[in-house]
Amino acid sequence: MLITNIKGLVGLHPKEKSVIRGNEMHHLPVLENAWLLIEDDLIKDFGEMNSIPPQISSLPSQLSVKGKYVFPSWCDSHTHIVFAASREEEFAMKIQGKTYEEIAAAGGGILNSANKLQHTTEDELFESASARLKKMILQGTGAVEIKSGYGLTVESELKMLKVISRLKASFPIPIKATFLAAHAYPKEFQNNHQAYLDLIINEMLPQIAAENLADYIDVFCEKGFFSVEETDQILKAGAKYGLKPKIHANQLSVSGAVEVAVKNNAVSVDHLEETNADTIENLRNSETIVTLLPSCSFYLGIPFANAKGFLAADLPVALATDFNPGSTPSGNMNFVVSLGCIKLKMQPEQAINAATLNGAAAMEISNNYGSIAIGKRANLFITQPMPSIAYLPYSFGETQIETVILNGEIYNG
Ligand code: NIG
Ligand code: FE
Repeated sequence: MLITNIKGLVGLHPKEKSVIRGNEMHHLPVLENAWLLIEDDLIKDFGEMNSIPPQISSLPSQLSVKGKYVFPSWCDSHTHIVFAASREEEFAMKIQGKTYEEIAAAGGGILNSANKLQHTTEDELFESASARLKKMILQGTGAVEIKSGYGLTVESELKMLKVISRLKASFPIPIKATFLAAHAYPKEFQNNHQAYLDLIINEMLPQIAAENLADYIDVFCEKGFFSVEETDQILKAGAKYGLKPKIHANQLSVSGAVEVAVKNNAVSVDHLEETNADTIENLRNSETIVTLLPSCSFYLGIPFANAKGFLAADLPVALATDFNPGSTPSGNMNFVVSLGCIKLKMQPEQAINAATLNGAAAMEISNNYGSIAIGKRANLFITQPMPSIAYLPYSFGETQIETVILNGEIYNG
């Protein structure tokens, strides 16, 4: 496929660039008035229209996109899209002023989702997650991470991970599976934490590893959920099976989660709505990516993360949705990029880098995804005509995406 008359080809980071650290994130390479050649499922070549070689301009399958931009697909590195039911009854409680912790204590929250999921079949979960994922793809997402964590029993955690495996097999995008049984203590283990940790470590992990059902391990390290010591225990057990951590850290309080995550070589620490100087110091000499989830802050009314502090410390920042029924009922990366600019005060270029190449890095797939480079996978979207790149996050709540291309083919859902 040959795309011509592109107003701007966005995100031309070289293929070998695997992550962008904070000091460089304002740099988003763009080629104006460009053409792009896709062969099979890969980006084959690109250049300027005024020097397009005749052998290329005469190729068939031309898509002329005057006034439009071509972006690398969004890479959404933190989601919980396998769930049984929405939780809009909690939405009303939240509007009345109840906090996330109070809603959880009143029988809502993660345990509510787990109860519903335990009574839902694998097929039903696959159908509903597929519908969500299709919508996300049509909104520009071309790679995604999905967590378990609404099962909380051996059987239901495995059921969730099997659903993710089926999604991997049936969608044309890369999907990473993260094992998050340490999401909340089930009622029967509330006074016996070690018994649940033993269940995770001795029952769930070996089966998951044997069936190759997870790529990463996650823990909700937070007051009232999993302590730093409990987190450490789980991460060490996961490491025995080669599962690297991606951690829910500092969502509601500064807890030592970042320190334990870095110590266990976490690929990413996610949330970080609460930060102090130690948080940044802990991350400074690590490779760990800071994944911010501003649509969670927007929905819950909790603080927005200190993105400027992380960027100033030269840390690599990624943006993701956190799509889940409790804290972020939206999988729209365009809105996340808008919030990255409006609420986290990131420049449009920084937010776009965070949602593409750094999102790919937070799933360890940036060698093939997240930027437009020769030899990378052709997962892209074409916008409607726009006056500039900044128009995309500026026009929040609207989609500027007109065409989605996955593996070199137009995707219609
Ligand atoms: O990332 N914080 C933990 N997990 C989810 C919310 C889960 C839920 O409320 O169902 C999150 O925000
Ligand atoms: Fe989450």
